Amino acid sequence: MSVTDSLQVVLANTYLLYLKTQNYHWNVAGGSFFIGLHELFEKQYTELAEAVDVIAERIRQLGPKVPATFADFAKAAELKEGDVSKTSQQMLADLAADQDKIIQVLKNAWDVADKSQDEVTADMLIERMEAHSKAAWFYKSSIE
Ligand SMILES: [Fe+2]
Repeated sequence: MSVTDSLQVVLANTYLLYLKTQNYHWNVAGGSFFIGLHELFEKQYTELAEAVDVIAERIRQLGPKVPATFADFAKAAELKEGDVSKTSQQMLADLAADQDKIIQVLKNAWDVADKSQDEVTADMLIERMEAHSKAAWFYKSSIE
């Protein structure tokens, strides 16, 4: 797999997680937990919105056009879309598990970048792993 192909997989999963986190921001309900979770999800989807821009623009720096339709993202993403029937606790567990899954996707892409001696892409992927590691901590620590 090329660096840009692996970045497209990273982009699709990040975009799906962005939409899913915003979905949960809109649909979370849970009595006294509501405001805290509503705001936590907003903080996270805002970070993801900035990340998708950085990832897509890295693909453009390497050359190819960026596949950027909902259909493109759904086809390339491994993460599952949000489920509004989940309780607030289930949403937290779902998003916590997604952080671990996307870190694995990022590690795979990092291996490709490393083998291609593309240090700039590899460094960006490390930054994304750091962000998702922190998000996993926030979500896991918020589970009752
Ligand atoms: Fe909002």
